[in-house]
Amino acid sequence: MCGIVGVLGNHEVAPILVEALKRLEYRGYDSAGIATVNDGTLDRRRAVGKLVNLSDLLVHDPLPGKSGIGHTRWATHGAPTEANAHPHRAGRVAVVHNGIIENFRELRAELAAAGVTFATQTDTELVALLTERHMAEGLAPAEAVFKTLDRLTGAFALALLFQGEEDLIIAARKGSPLAIGHGEGEMYVGSDAIALAPLTDRITYLEEGDRAIVTRAGVEIRDVEGRLVNRPVKQIQLDAARIDKSGHKHFMAKEIAEQPQVIAEALNAYLPAGGDRVVLPEGSPDFSKIDRLVMVACGTAFYACLTAKYWFEQIARLPVEVDIASEFRYREPPVAPRTLALFVSQSGETADTLAALRYCTDKADSLLSVVNVPESSIARESGMALPIHAGVEVGVASTKAFTCQLTVLFMLALKAAADRGALSPEQVADHVAALRGLPSALNAALDEGPAIRKAAQSLSEARDVLFLGRGLMYPLALEGALKLKEISYIHAEAYASGELKHGPIALIDKHMPVVVMAPRDALFDKSVSNMQEVLARKGKVVLISDEAGIAEAGDGIWAAIRMPHVQPALTPILYAVPAQLLAYHTAVAKGTDVDQPRNLAKSVTVE
Ligand code: F6R
Repeated sequence: MCGIVGVLGNHEVAPILVEALKRLEYRGYDSAGIATVNDGTLDRRRAVGKLVNLSDLLVHDPLPGKSGIGHTRWATHGAPTEANAHPHRAGRVAVVHNGIIENFRELRAELAAAGVTFATQTDTELVALLTERHMAEGLAPAEAVFKTLDRLTGAFALALLFQGEEDLIIAARKGSPLAIGHGEGEMYVGSDAIALAPLTDRITYLEEGDRAIVTRAGVEIRDVEGRLVNRPVKQIQLDAARIDKSGHKHFMAKEIAEQPQVIAEALNAYLPAGGDRVVLPEGSPDFSKIDRLVMVACGTAFYACLTAKYWFEQIARLPVEVDIASEFRYREPPVAPRTLALFVSQSGETADTLAALRYCTDKADSLLSVVNVPESSIARESGMALPIHAGVEVGVASTKAFTCQLTVLFMLALKAAADRGALSPEQVADHVAALRGLPSALNAALDEGPAIRKAAQSLSEARDVLFLGRGLMYPLALEGALKLKEISYIHAEAYASGELKHGPIALIDKHMPVVVMAPRDALFDKSVSNMQEVLARKGKVVLISDEAGIAEAGDGIWAAIRMPHVQPALTPILYAVPAQLLAYHTAVAKGTDVDQPRNLAKSVTVE
């Protein structure tokens, strides 16, 4: 949700800002802008649409200066117009912002009553206006910003630049992440370490409420009470080279193809070489002391949790509740004693999931998170975080993070089963052996690409698509439908196969493709019956199954996608690949923007 960057450099800063914004574009791409100070003069350039429009503008209308801030926007308040694009400016102050200022109506009314006029419809403009007013009262920039911050409620990460100040950026964080980068005689500010990766690997993460006075000499950090605080400088290991498409047409294609490799890395992290059990880091929960698991997440991560519910209940005999974070946080559910609260988030910054975690902090016996970004807010605030080792995921539609989440959650379920005596060591060893075979099964699934592309060609002409699955395939059907709608804009819905006859069967006709995800498992016969119900009404079935399943399914199938056979419990991880590829190839056939689908952003740091 909006990416922000700031640089106090020794070279022309505009190209550096644009390069950093490129790495943040996954957070939003409605408009972009930069501001610099050059010979004391504050100026800015902004453009609607993708970052490339800003780059083009800067070619014709360059912006000199060695100090600057930049922004890539995902619109919240106000349409994506140039006027609403950041940086926002009032007099001597320019500001970039990620988040939402919740009391903006009240502040706007107050300023309007004082005769202030507004140039934008945004909440962010207020920050510049208030700070400029405080400076007009005689306050220095830092004091003026601090006084403004004390008036703001909501979530924000902010960076401010000032006319006449070539060596100053003021940054602040509350609710939205912000990192300070340390260079050689240069200093940086960024929404995350990825943005700053080519500039520095030495990062200080601001804590909740922190305010930072950044100059080329370093950073002075004050907490929300104004006390000087020391935040550690961390050496970040970011494989910058992995943030490219490596010959693929899209990041999404690359990230789908990477799954055998990253899942092998996730397995290596929790399955010691040659061992036959799961070993989690010190301090991980002892599931024999837990009676109930509450899992909370959003979107794709929520579907990973729904899948894991089947595993924890069936394999570890542990009752599980799964909730969407935005519902959980406001429902204020009672949390029973001996409950483990588990939060799953790729970014580790999703506002609703973070709020749910905070709700549970003093209620659950223990907290645990499963994240892709170990330095993220959710990882830090949960105390114990299990990284999923997916590597940087750039495509806005989550793919490899989903399968890595599933892999780590399955291992966690095995650990729970072992702790609770629900599985014998031999049974755990069998599962571990099956897990070790996953990367090669995933490679075989990827080999089905051409068949999937063919099915996707036909799917791309559909207006609506239905996904069906039973048992472990039900959450995956939900994920398949989400993937398809978010990148191809085709309306897609998913149902548990058994629910078909309770309503959605009314939709079936000769125009309706129905993707049936059904490995040849204990529920297969029932899935075939549901499939027959679709075929009888002339629905077009795309069956994703294994060799045996496809052979048994009979005639009349529109398209069959063949998966290798794996242990039934692991099918969701494997069958995620055809679901992702189906969405990917459909989107490519339709010519949509696969990596940056409309209206979406990757890190959802607003409610
Ligand atoms: C869909 C997708 C989203 C995210 C959701 C949660 O492809 O990526 O649904 O899964 O916004 O994000 P995280 O996992 O970062 O909390």
